[in-house]
Amino acid sequence: MGQQPDNQAATITGSGYDAWLSYPKLPQGNLYKQYVKWCRAAVSVTEEQDTVQAALREWQRGITSMLDIESESGAEPAADGFTVAFGTFHGGNPLIEAIFDEAAIQAVGPEGFAVRTSLTHKCIAVGASSPAGVLYGVFHLLRLIGSQKEIERLDETVNPVNALRMINHWDNFDGSVERGYSGRSFLYENNRFTDDLDRITDYARLMSTAGINAIAINNVNVHALETLFISTYLPDVARIADVFRIYGIRLFLSVNFAGPMHEGEVGTADPLDAGVREWWKKKAAEIYAVVPDFGGFVVKADSENRPGPFTYGRDHADGANMLAEALEPFGGIVIWRCFVYNCKQDWRDRKTDRARAAYDHFKPLDGKFHDNVILQIKNGPMDFQVREPVSPLFGALEQTNQVIEFQIAQEYTGQQRHVCYLVPQWKEIMEFDTLAKGGAAPVKHIVDGSLWGNRFSGVAAVSNVGNDLNWTGHLLAQANLYGFGRLAWNPELSAEEIAAEWISLTFGTDAAVAGVISRILLDSWEIYESYTAPLGVGWMINPEHHYGPNVDGYEYSQWGTYHYADHQGIGVDRTVATGTGYSAQYMGSNAQRYDSLEECPDELLLFFHHVPYTHVLNSGKTVIQHIYDTHFAGAERADGLLAAWSGLKGSIAEGLYAQVEERLRGQAAHSKEWRDQINTYFYRKSGIEDSGARKIY
Ligand code: GCU
Repeated sequence: MGQQPDNQAATITGSGYDAWLSYPKLPQGNLYKQYVKWCRAAVSVTEEQDTVQAALREWQRGITSMLDIESESGAEPAADGFTVAFGTFHGGNPLIEAIFDEAAIQAVGPEGFAVRTSLTHKCIAVGASSPAGVLYGVFHLLRLIGSQKEIERLDETVNPVNALRMINHWDNFDGSVERGYSGRSFLYENNRFTDDLDRITDYARLMSTAGINAIAINNVNVHALETLFISTYLPDVARIADVFRIYGIRLFLSVNFAGPMHEGEVGTADPLDAGVREWWKKKAAEIYAVVPDFGGFVVKADSENRPGPFTYGRDHADGANMLAEALEPFGGIVIWRCFVYNCKQDWRDRKTDRARAAYDHFKPLDGKFHDNVILQIKNGPMDFQVREPVSPLFGALEQTNQVIEFQIAQEYTGQQRHVCYLVPQWKEIMEFDTLAKGGAAPVKHIVDGSLWGNRFSGVAAVSNVGNDLNWTGHLLAQANLYGFGRLAWNPELSAEEIAAEWISLTFGTDAAVAGVISRILLDSWEIYESYTAPLGVGWMINPEHHYGPNVDGYEYSQWGTYHYADHQGIGVDRTVATGTGYSAQYMGSNAQRYDSLEECPDELLLFFHHVPYTHVLNSGKTVIQHIYDTHFAGAERADGLLAAWSGLKGSIAEGLYAQVEERLRGQAAHSKEWRDQINTYFYRKSGIEDSGARKIY
């Protein structure tokens, strides 16, 4: 993408490196003629500002590649006068000023844009309030062209729905990536920051064109050396921030709550200690001196052996507010994670329940956080399983800023060796009605800040990128990265629309090709779920690395099987009467529905109830037969994914074809292992035959 030497350029072609910025050549036809008519001549850009210039470069790259057009900025318009113009509303471009009146300008928010085809001025204009808006708008226009949409009568105003659209890297300074499945980090190697700023630039291009505006560059588990990112390594951090800034992205850092002690300057990390508070204020000032638009801190505290305020008998509001006070004068925010639970708890009493933890810790603190604190809440109460209910904290916090945390990295969903398009899962979660405020209160309206009128709000996700040439290991996992950004920008987009965009930007607009890839993506979550974790049970994976089947593999299994599977039944009783009481953390009819064995949706049955294998589901099948059937069918459908992809040979670039084929082949084989291990385990446990008399090993 950036300036690559020739030999590298050859490797990059067909590797997937260009991702959704590969701008495939468009087919000849009426639309092609239309695009050429508008785009062939000069592009009118008058601002020298870095981000606007980056938008210009993207535009030129895009139309050169898609339409074979070289468009000079500032050149004379073509004889027939058609042109494209873009810039900020008050950036001095006469075309922009002529085309957008005050009402149009007022409708565009800080990061939004308007795009209009003006026949009077023979100009397609992209106008925005900010340079970042220009970049988003220009890419919007490129996307319209790349997906073969009309541009003859454009008149759109587009604003992002969510203010914070954030990526969390779990990259470590040594170059490893926690839960990384795409090679190593491209940010660090051997405790050094990368010198390859071309790659960082290309990454920033990818992120901004997907709509991302915030990136935390280091793992939430902050180790000794990363603790020094806010001091010793600040100049390196600033270099990355300088690149991000051009693309409208604010840099965030994960910080170590015990930072003051690590640096040996203060003997405690007690958030109420005056010395500690001063230390963080000083740090904040030092950071903003070199990164003036620094976003703020991401914090994992008191969880999985991380330090936190509990050590000092303080609560999480004390901890978060102390950091918030340090950042407030500079406009910074604290993103405080709610993934707080005691990983050493003994849950054999069948009452102690990890799923309860986030709500139990944070609900009582509602209203106690400063207004530049945002709580970051994982989408479910456990940990990014293939299926979990929505975290009951959504809707329960009425006076607290919050963002939802998704995981693009497929930690529990096939680790980018299996295809699992997660946008449908995220959509389902965003649409879930929490019933807060007594009415329709879907998660999407909580995280966009509209339900409670929050000062800050948005969407965050754990990244799935690494230094693999195609960024995401599995080429099809790029759809999750792109899809996350698009969904964060506009949760109303459907999973189908997002897939279609990604496909045309990556592979071109051949309808038959698009049909096959779209089906693969849209079926993939259901298929993955069907041969892995039935009925919401979760965690049937190998401990530690979390890849491959292991029915009793729950991480902390020193306390016995997590899902309590024995010869009679399976599932976690989270009801009020006989279980952990977790179901009561939901509101109104949601609580009743989950609590009731009859009403609980099948796909979450084993998350909420312990039942005999002979229990009959709403589907009419018994639990055990459901397990057998879905595992047989799922493995077969995994073969189907490979067969469908094989039909694309010759229709897409060989390099792209081959890498996905290799992954799908692996997935098909691995799905058999899943099928056999799980079916065998439950056959042996239950002693119940498969009604289809299929072979269970
Ligand atoms: C999961 C994951 C860890 C990660 C943690 C977190 O437990 O396996 O690697 O650190 O989530 O979100 O903090």
